[in-house]
Amino acid sequence: MSKIRVLTVFGTRPEAIKMAPLVKEFEKRSDKFKSIVCVTAQHRQMLDQVLKLFDIKPDFDLNIMKPNQDLWTITAEVLMLMKDVIETSKPDIVLVHGDTTTSMAAALSAFYAKVPAGHVEAGLRTFDKYYPFPEEINRVFADAVCSYHFAPTETSIDNLKKSAISDTHIYKTGNTVIDALLHTVENNKSDLSYIGLNPDLKTILLTSHRRENFGEPIKNICKAVLELTEKNQDIQFVYPVHLNPNVQQPVRELLEGKERIHLIDPMEYAPFSTLMKESHIIMTDSGGVQEEAPSLGKPVLVLRSTTERPEAVEYGTVKLVGTDKDNIVKEVQNLLDNDEEYKKMSEAINPYGDGLASRRIADILEKEFKKD
Ligand code: UD1
Ligand code: UDP
Repeated sequence: MSKIRVLTVFGTRPEAIKMAPLVKEFEKRSDKFKSIVCVTAQHRQMLDQVLKLFDIKPDFDLNIMKPNQDLWTITAEVLMLMKDVIETSKPDIVLVHGDTTTSMAAALSAFYAKVPAGHVEAGLRTFDKYYPFPEEINRVFADAVCSYHFAPTETSIDNLKKSAISDTHIYKTGNTVIDALLHTVENNKSDLSYIGLNPDLKTILLTSHRRENFGEPIKNICKAVLELTEKNQDIQFVYPVHLNPNVQQPVRELLEGKERIHLIDPMEYAPFSTLMKESHIIMTDSGGVQEEAPSLGKPVLVLRSTTERPEAVEYGTVKLVGTDKDNIVKEVQNLLDNDEEYKKMSEAINPYGDGLASRRIADILEKEFKKD
């Protein structure tokens, strides 16, 4: 029996984390699928960390990352280089993920080659063209050119239906991030002692890397961290600093060497999941962290003014606090001082998935691309 040839394409850390469970599922079903993996390496070190953890050896590595790269070069290189990859690997379907420039350009490349593409984590929207930038348009674009849409929630299904794209197949599958998280939390007990955290203090985990937060907003976030640390002797911050120079430079300038503020390198996914579990509060502008933290029962303060992931905000475990320094200080202080409020936000909920999304997607592809 000939196999379904699936070309899975990803390039950054979050895409890798969210596509890894799917690649593993295709490998498990090797009697039905020929799994072909292409990494663009839009990220290098942060991607390789994930490939190592999930033991994925790509068939194609486009190795495109350059220091301080821009959107034009990422788009052009992925679009061009994917042409050869598709021609060589002859997939029945190309799978892309989410809202990165890798995903948008790889989906377009598949469309030009007239190979059907599937969008994993389809249908997320803020309906604001510039926020987040360029992710909102990347995902609208990927949804438009893909024929198969694997939507995580009802909200994302509704968003896709509103877009009224022809030739489309929409499925609710849950988000593969929960597959990755449950697998990782279950199988790993990471040692965090290298960070040097004080076990008697409350830990606040911080991540921030969004383009809209470059410049003043990221400086405001750092100033809020300084003020909170000064006001509260019983807290400590830990911040795995994204490798983007636009993040590294201001963060190191404002926070390096300060007492009870631990700036560390981007963490491997397993220890990072452990750290999320052990934190008291999480402050982030990350999409993935917004999805993972609620299922670990951690209150999340989102350093943005809108989100394409409204589900946990509606449940009350995630709150949008923006990037105004005084507002961040007020909201964190409220969680530190008000036990009732803290308890309300710490309820473990799982609006984004149940750990079975990859299985559902593989089932759908088996049916849709059945071969004799
Ligand atoms: C990208 C995605 C963003 C996603 C984020 C996840 C786009 C336009 N942006 O943003 O949607 O939320 O990844 O983290 O697709 N760098 C390294 N090593 C790495 C990774 C990055 O040195 O492993 C540095 C490089 O200097 C690189 C820069 O960071 O040029 C920016 O990387 P890029 O992928 O362009 O942007 P991100 O902000 O990471
Ligand atoms: N993450 C990680 N190590 C870190 C910080 C984050 O493994 O030091 C994981 C996190 O658990 C989530 C993903 O990276 O699964 C999110 O990536 P990022 O915040 O870079 O991108 P976004 O989700 O905002 O696109």
